[in-house]
Amino acid sequence: MAGVWDPTQYERFKAERAAPFFDLLALVLPTESLRVLDLGCGTGELSCEAHRRLRALNTLGIDSSQAMLERARRHEAPGVAFELADMVGFSAPRSFDIVLSNAALQWVPDHASVLARWTSFLTEKGQLAVQVPANLDHPSHSIAAEVATEEPFLSAFGGDPPADPVRNVLAPEEYARLLFELGYKNQHVRLQVYGHVLPSTEEVVEWVRGTSLTRFAARLRPELFEEYVLRYKARVLERLGRHSPFFYPFKRILLWGHL
Ligand SMILES: C[S@@+](CC[C@H](N)C(=O)[O-])C[C@H]1O[C@@H](n2cnc3c(N)ncnc32)[C@H](O)[C@@H]1O
Repeated sequence: MAGVWDPTQYERFKAERAAPFFDLLALVLPTESLRVLDLGCGTGELSCEAHRRLRALNTLGIDSSQAMLERARRHEAPGVAFELADMVGFSAPRSFDIVLSNAALQWVPDHASVLARWTSFLTEKGQLAVQVPANLDHPSHSIAAEVATEEPFLSAFGGDPPADPVRNVLAPEEYARLLFELGYKNQHVRLQVYGHVLPSTEEVVEWVRGTSLTRFAARLRPELFEEYVLRYKARVLERLGRHSPFFYPFKRILLWGHL
């Protein structure tokens, strides 16, 4: 389940989040008159950037968050459109030359089936380009899961706390195998560490709040969610120390396949 998205919070780390997207785009072979589909497009800024850099004919961004889509619609322009839809339930004929997805696939399980479905949207010589975070083992993630198992949060969930979406992410070699099995003739899969230099350790909390913690914001009353964030912050500072600047190593998997 995706969380409650706040476009303003998400955009606080715009430059850091854009870097892997540009690395992903660099893997795509530009050809004439591309039709691009961006799944989990968020605020749409990067969809527009892809449209521009790839000199695409048209680009369609899909997202299931009304708040993110409202922000995205500000970027609508000739050739660029956005639609509210689920990226797994979405269906399209074989009509896209490029299927892109940046930092969104982790929100859904069963990547083998999802990638098979996304491949079915591609034209005969289409390209798939996907980026997912792979930093489940970083304390910013393990502490988030740990605090969620404590009271009063645990009872408020009325069962197991929502799982970290990054648990859905496979090993890089698994994606390579899937791309092969799906018929991609050329592929590039890599794990890359992005070294983000944040002003202070506190900023890690703001970063995670804009993404991973949205799963708790969706399930806790606003006051309880704020209490959760305070405890999470105290634990992060205790474990990671107060540093300024703070170096945040962030592992990501970039995968690209060409049919
Ligand atoms: C971390 S943001 C990435 C946004 C954008 N791709 C970017 O790179 O800036 C993840 C996005 O995935 C969207 N999302 C999560 N699950 C989704 C689903 N099942 N269908 C469509 N969008 C989904 C969220 O609403 C959110 O906008």
